[in-house]
Amino acid sequence: MLVTFLTFIGICSFASWVYENFRTPVLLLFRGLTQVSSNSFPEKYGPWAVITGGSDGIGKGYANYLARQGMKVLLIARNEAKLKKVSQEITEKYGVETKILVTDFSKGEQVYHGLETELSSLDIGILVNNVGVINEKPIRLEAMDQKLLWDLININVGAATLLCNILIPAMKRKRRGLIVNISSLSALAPTPYLAVYAATKAYMTSFSQALRQELLSYEVECQTVSPGYVETNMTEYLTQPNAPEKHFTQQLVKVKDFLHYAGYTIGKVDTTCGHWTHGIQTALLKILPDWLKLRVYTRLYTHLLHKFSN
Ligand SMILES: NC(=O)c1ccc[n+]([C@@H]2O[C@H](COP(=O)([O-])OP(=O)(O)OC[C@H]3O[C@@H](n4cnc5c(N)ncnc54)[C@H](OP(=O)(O)O)[C@@H]3O)[C@@H](O)[C@H]2O)c1
Repeated sequence: MLVTFLTFIGICSFASWVYENFRTPVLLLFRGLTQVSSNSFPEKYGPWAVITGGSDGIGKGYANYLARQGMKVLLIARNEAKLKKVSQEITEKYGVETKILVTDFSKGEQVYHGLETELSSLDIGILVNNVGVINEKPIRLEAMDQKLLWDLININVGAATLLCNILIPAMKRKRRGLIVNISSLSALAPTPYLAVYAATKAYMTSFSQALRQELLSYEVECQTVSPGYVETNMTEYLTQPNAPEKHFTQQLVKVKDFLHYAGYTIGKVDTTCGHWTHGIQTALLKILPDWLKLRVYTRLYTHLLHKFSN
């Protein structure tokens, strides 16, 4: 009786792990082979794509990818000169219209009234909620500057939440649109000494998956993207000559390679890590039960906390 029960639990856990980790690659393969729609992104979703944090890193990668698909792009970030440079490059490369919005999401509630006014004049088909910040090294919560704590909340959580609230009504009315929410592999387990960042990413995953269900019947798509390490300003500290852990640098994926895969998943799957190597890392991590993952992360990040503070 006990053996039958344990076998049953084992089979259920294995089946659940297989479903969770093979659903996306199988769907990608199937939809890659069978999707015959000739609709371009602008026809399918609408002409404009809005990318938060679109002037650098992964956001800039999405802006280039979507412009190559014929989308007009609106980039939002703080640094006007950088925004102008990237938007000009995109127009020259892909011949699409571009716009920029200089906005600092760390300012919280006050920025959204102006943003809503600016965005209301555009027919927005795709929203990429990409903007995000991180504490550069593992740190105890009480040692963190309060400004950084508010930034993590306002930028990583506030921007995506409020922009969805602003843009979803028009998408639902038009019965088309796509929201891409950039979460992270960090969402997989609570992470001591990176507690707030990991929690903001767990929020993004939960928020995005719930929102997808809310939007299903309106034909508005919602995709959750949970990357591992990508080579951007955010991960630059890992590549410094004095970085304490060199093996992280071997895991870094270039933005171009990341978008090569992540871009292909658009319109095909609702959940992805973006890059296949991050998919393998995720599948391996998901073998561990939550309590063991927390123990592993606690050991790893306690070790990093000490290394980075030396
Ligand atoms: N890189 C990775 O390994 C990795 C892994 C998993 C998930 N992610 C997620 O991917 C997303 C993008 O990360 P990334 O590595 O591409 O970052 P990044 O290279 O640092 O780029 C961040 C972008 O956001 C803008 N930005 C930063 N603070 C802002 C603010 N307060 N208001 C408006 N815009 C702001 C930056 O431009 P300005 O400085 O001019 O404002 C820049 O365009 C984040 O959500 C991150 O959590 C990254």
